[in-house]
Amino acid sequence: KFEKIWLIFGFGTLLVFLTIIGVSAFYLGNQPPSCLAPIDPEKVDTTAPFDEPGLKKVEGKDWDYELVFVASAFSYSPAHVEVPLGAKVKVIATSKDVMHGFQAAGTNVNMMLEPGYISEVVTTFKNPGEFLIVCNEYCGVGHHMMHSMIEVV
Ligand code: CUA
Repeated sequence: KFEKIWLIFGFGTLLVFLTIIGVSAFYLGNQPPSCLAPIDPEKVDTTAPFDEPGLKKVEGKDWDYELVFVASAFSYSPAHVEVPLGAKVKVIATSKDVMHGFQAAGTNVNMMLEPGYISEVVTTFKNPGEFLIVCNEYCGVGHHMMHSMIEVV
């Protein structure tokens, strides 16, 4: 008789977990940064939007700006960028060589940049200040020096 109770308990917890994951993914929008389109790592500099890294105002989209970054050992382009306070920004980034990280400290932006793929995340910069971007994937001898800065003003 106790087996039945445990069985129900087991299925119950499973359901609760699945519901939490479902709500988190679809309602709160907690989805991993997507690697959408493939890109030729050799042609990053000549492929839009990576031929012009930096902040661009866009019209008719769910976000106000697009912020493009190109990572290569051991730096990001741009090395410093200003973003208006409260702006909803789609961060679009890729790597020209090896796998790099892209974490903006103090924000929810944390992506992996894989050569050959474009990583994207949409975020709103609600707090003014300087947000250091660091590489959190070991990429070689200069890994610890690899950084950029988003300045929200
Ligand atoms: Cu780039 Cu570590």
